[in-house]
Amino acid sequence: MELDPLLAENRDNWDSRVPVHLGPNGYRQERYVDDPTWVSEMVRFDQPLLGDLTGLSVVHLQCHIGTDTVSLARVGPSEVVGVDFSEPAIEAARDLAARTGANVTFVVSDVYNAAVTVGREFDVLYTSVGAIGWFPDLARWAANVAGLLRPGGRFVFRDLHPAAWPYEAVDGQVVPHYWYWKRDEPLVEDEETSYLGDGKVTSPRANEWSHPVSEVLNAIIGAGLRLDRVEEHEGCDWPMFGELSPQEGDQWFFPDHLRDKVPMMWSIAATKPE
Ligand SMILES: C[S@@+](CC[C@H](N)C(=O)[O-])C[C@H]1O[C@@H](n2cnc3c(N)ncnc32)[C@H](O)[C@@H]1O
Repeated sequence: MELDPLLAENRDNWDSRVPVHLGPNGYRQERYVDDPTWVSEMVRFDQPLLGDLTGLSVVHLQCHIGTDTVSLARVGPSEVVGVDFSEPAIEAARDLAARTGANVTFVVSDVYNAAVTVGREFDVLYTSVGAIGWFPDLARWAANVAGLLRPGGRFVFRDLHPAAWPYEAVDGQVVPHYWYWKRDEPLVEDEETSYLGDGKVTSPRANEWSHPVSEVLNAIIGAGLRLDRVEEHEGCDWPMFGELSPQEGDQWFFPDHLRDKVPMMWSIAATKPE
């Protein structure tokens, strides 16, 4: 299916990040090959909310190069399917699965068509960290989340907190710089570097959309899911801008004067009613 031009631009951007993320100081895929018990920090962080996955089927939306997908496969499910719209990302994910012997499969699909393209339902849908900012329309996103879950299936999500989204370092000061409220037009960014990896991003243009708390929760409720739990976190998985400081393992935090004033990330768990 034809992608909206702005989403196609995002796909070019993600395609061109793949070699950067596979290279020096990137996602370090070899860790998963060298240590068959290694589970990514991201999945470890989310395990309490994911709960016991033993014997369950899991779909991992926006799986990127498969490091979290392989990690999920290591914590109990009977099967894991990763979905992403970037062909080079899925190619790298399949390569990682082959090198680790992980019981995972992958499907190339954009999220707006994922329920139809994947064509089946799962016990758990997981998506995290860098998920919803890529979508102008969260109702379509949530409809596909619901469409990939069986009745009784669980949705587990973690992403940047909507209240943290406006913050940016301007002249060395971390301030609310972008809009919090929903806008039709995207925030357009041209960045030749990525959040991991030393290489140059050859398609630097990316389009992102802000989503207020109410919009996210109402999209999930509107898709027919029942909210089970909402959590807010002080730390972030990546240095969103240089002024964040790494503390407490792999988490990054606002400067001290903001740390107790602004949440950095949030998690949501929801269930598709039987
Ligand atoms: C920041 S990564 C998140 C992955 C995960 N947190 C990780 O670090 O591996 C965002 C992923 O979303 C994918 N993506 C962005 N927009 C998408 C869309 N419209 N449909 C499907 N995948 C999309 C990108 O290709 C990328 O792999």
